[in-house]
Amino acid sequence: MRLEGKIALVTGAGKDSRGIGHGIALALAREGADVAVASHTLANALRVVDAVQSLSRRALAVEMDVSRAESVEAGVNEVLNAFGRIDILVNNAGITRDALLVRMREEDWDAVLDVNLKGAFLCSRAVAKVMMKQRAGCIVNITSIMGLTGNAGQANYSSAKAGLIGLTKSLARELGSRGIRVNAVAPGWIETAMTDSLPDAVREAILKQIPLGRLGRAEDVAGAVVFLCSEESAYITGQVLTVDGGLVMI
Ligand SMILES: NC(=O)c1ccc[n+]([C@@H]2O[C@H](COP(=O)([O-])OP(=O)(O)OC[C@H]3O[C@@H](n4cnc5c(N)ncnc54)[C@H](O)[C@@H]3O)[C@@H](O)[C@H]2O)c1
Repeated sequence: MRLEGKIALVTGAGKDSRGIGHGIALALAREGADVAVASHTLANALRVVDAVQSLSRRALAVEMDVSRAESVEAGVNEVLNAFGRIDILVNNAGITRDALLVRMREEDWDAVLDVNLKGAFLCSRAVAKVMMKQRAGCIVNITSIMGLTGNAGQANYSSAKAGLIGLTKSLARELGSRGIRVNAVAPGWIETAMTDSLPDAVREAILKQIPLGRLGRAEDVAGAVVFLCSEESAYITGQVLTVDGGLVMI
């Protein structure tokens, strides 16, 4: 077990059990971590908690809107009250509001930036204070290949995910001397509620471009997160690990 005795906070439980947050929470628990799952929809977090507890690990569901500072501070305190420390933060909560630029409403821009980017800033700020006192911790930000390549119809999402890469690198520089590592995982196309709405023709076209010939699963992303939280990556910080079947190679 690579994470025995660690306490993890994962934001964004996932809309169903295929959610990336769900997969990450379970993978961390399988490696021995106790896991708090924060979501603005408590029902989603409770589903993950049940799954983590079935692995005989402690789990806590936290109702938290990552885009609101007071909600984040309260949620982080709830985790501290329950577990006493936080060793791992996974900023996974994310939303999409796709539209072509000329049709994109200002509220679609703001909502996506608020959850995907400001949310990671607020959670990292709250948890870094705890980790700095501990002089140890790992933060993993779930960005996207769209933050590397851009995507038509996703100016808001791609900008937020690119910003998350900037946040990752800045925090890695700022917090490295305090024993805190900060990395990002950039998933490609993963089979979740977020990609359910892809039309068949688009799905076929995407599959043709993926060297490994399939969409990803939450477990594929979770494996990378576990690695970045474990001692095996003790000398890795400020990096973006792409998990996309080879779709984007830079
Ligand atoms: N599915 C993909 O193909 C894919 C690809 C690349 C990156 N990602 C990223 O992975 C992450 C997880 O995506 P998913 O596919 O599991 O999506 P999902 O919609 O299943 O899960 C997202 C979760 O975030 C939560 N959330 C939304 N707004 C929130 C808020 N304000 N506060 C707290 N929680 C909030 C939702 O309740 C949901 O549980 C996201 O950051 C997403 O951008 C997904």
